[in-house]
Amino acid sequence: MSNKFKRILYGGDYNPNQWSKDIWKEDMRIFRDARINSATINVFSWAKLQPSEEEYCFDELDEVVDMLSQDGYDIVLATSTAALPAWMFKKYPEVARTDYQGRHHKFGQRHNACPNSAVYQKYASALVERLARRYADNRHVTCWHINNEYGGACYCENCEKAFRVWLRNKYKTIDELNRAWNLEFWGHTVYEWDEIVLPNALGDGMEDGVNTAFAGLSIDYCRFNSDSLLNNFKMERDIIRRYHKDALITTNLMGTYKGLDYFKWAKEMDIVSWDNYPSYNTPWSYIAMCHDLMRGLKGEPFMLMEQTPSQQNWQPYNSLKRPGQMRAQSYQTIAHGADTIQFFQLRRSAGGCEKFHGAVIAHAGTENTRVFREVKQLGEELEGLGTSTLGSVNQAEVGIVFDWDNYWGLEYTSGPSVDLTYVKQIHQYYKYFYDNNIGVDMIPYDGDFGKYKVIVAPVLYMVKEGMKEALEMFVKNGGVLITTYMSGIVDQSDNVYLGGYPGPLRELAGVWVEEIDALAPEQFNEVVFEDGTKNRCGIVCDIMHLEHAQCVATYGMDFYAGTPAAARNQYGQGSTWYLGSSMDEGGIAKVLEMAVKEAGVAPVLGDGNGLEVTCRKAEGCRYYFVMNFRDKAQEVPASLAGHQNLLTGREVKAGEQMRKFDVRIVKVDD
Ligand code: GLA
Ligand code: ZN
Repeated sequence: MSNKFKRILYGGDYNPNQWSKDIWKEDMRIFRDARINSATINVFSWAKLQPSEEEYCFDELDEVVDMLSQDGYDIVLATSTAALPAWMFKKYPEVARTDYQGRHHKFGQRHNACPNSAVYQKYASALVERLARRYADNRHVTCWHINNEYGGACYCENCEKAFRVWLRNKYKTIDELNRAWNLEFWGHTVYEWDEIVLPNALGDGMEDGVNTAFAGLSIDYCRFNSDSLLNNFKMERDIIRRYHKDALITTNLMGTYKGLDYFKWAKEMDIVSWDNYPSYNTPWSYIAMCHDLMRGLKGEPFMLMEQTPSQQNWQPYNSLKRPGQMRAQSYQTIAHGADTIQFFQLRRSAGGCEKFHGAVIAHAGTENTRVFREVKQLGEELEGLGTSTLGSVNQAEVGIVFDWDNYWGLEYTSGPSVDLTYVKQIHQYYKYFYDNNIGVDMIPYDGDFGKYKVIVAPVLYMVKEGMKEALEMFVKNGGVLITTYMSGIVDQSDNVYLGGYPGPLRELAGVWVEEIDALAPEQFNEVVFEDGTKNRCGIVCDIMHLEHAQCVATYGMDFYAGTPAAARNQYGQGSTWYLGSSMDEGGIAKVLEMAVKEAGVAPVLGDGNGLEVTCRKAEGCRYYFVMNFRDKAQEVPASLAGHQNLLTGREVKAGEQMRKFDVRIVKVDD
């Protein structure tokens, strides 16, 4: 158990610089009432902190820090480097990014600094140095929040030059690079490093931004861009560390955001934090998966850095969170490993594009609102929980592999189907475990497989060095591996493993895939199980031969009717289950149920059906989080009767009804 906080941080983004001082006082009073104990400040204040190239001014920030310190806040201090002052663009246009279409940007927006601009790096460092020197000794600064939601990409000349250096380090010789990207194709062979061009719309990227002529090049660019932004993060982190030795340093991530290899990032962060903004129709299982992924990045509890108390502004339809929903969603976040609950934001802006974004204090300016009352109720409850759940460990016997190289690779590849999108694919397998309250860790491709009974590696398109051996070892020793179509196809540079799909996994899966059919949305096939039951399948259909594997289901239609659609292969002490087509929910459930049964995996609670249940283990006890996200009322699991519900202090009674958005946190002693 690692416990990084002394209490559950409860608060959020606070921008008092947008308001006059009399409002600040009122804010403090209202926040106190809601048991808010933390504020994230200084996220977008660079222009104020540095009005010109020569001048810095920290007066206002000093006042905010003093005010919060006096009230005993845990301050999450941001570095303000995510939005640059206008003077910088005017004097040094290179700090702006060049976009995919090749247009060089001007002052405006945010999250738009060229990561390889030496000018940006110089001024960001100078600012962070001053902030660190000034505030490192304040014991109320609990956490440093670097920049904000790193993301996007730059295609400027500075980046192009830096990319060539990055490639030289990776490939050493130009021959090796030509080989890796298979540049003989279309006669794209290069002879000098400076002939290499960034993969944007003007080069080998396709106009649409989705496709590319050379996936090897484009994937390397994704890796490079992720590294470039990560270097920006590390630059700031190292400065802060010099002044604040034991600082907790983070930056807010964005769940399944495609642009950055978060597993690589997390290694550089002291704690993972992330911003959770589902829309009105995002499945609960998808939100749960994002939390599990964020926990999985370091295999540790994380911070919820942002969520809206109710409404957003940037989605097409910004519905209100229904009564009780924000509370239930906050507990779902803790249930999956969060140790903080923070909002964007504490007071709603009067102007700018986020004026309709929900906040703890609405435009009405008072605490007399539904949203405030719900924030206050949650604040009181979290205060009541104290430190009990902090640092406790989520229980999981199943690991699902999530890998950014595969994300990029699968989606860059041209054919066989545009409908093969990475996150959607991973989610449909995750959902089975979610629906059955089976704890899952989202793990990297080089994770510690030995900790799990089941490893699920859907669409494992790219098999990188070491992965084949690690998976073979896992299965040989008795593990159960579940993998699918579009796995084992390419190496780290997107070149196909010759000799038949699924390449390096062929021995393990005991199948040879000869052809891959693609089905349009209006088309489908069927999988027929041994007991005669049928389910629909589509997107792709592997036409395969069993080598050592046994058939689990066959196709029901088309010229490959009767041939295997899913197979199980005994390998050493364990087995591999291979799904040759994207089955409907029922089909996936049938295969996974067999695999899970064979592996002896159990749900965290046997009788939680219809409710969401997770388990966090602390010393001497376990906390069961039970939530109802369905419209129908359900009975609390009977096995929890007689144990204490931490939210009320009372014992859970058998037969107790849980309505939609009801929550129990039940403590069970070991
Ligand atoms: C992001 C940003 C915040 C704010 C919110 C609005 O998460 O980090 O600054 O713009 O979105 O939802
Ligand atoms: Zn650039």
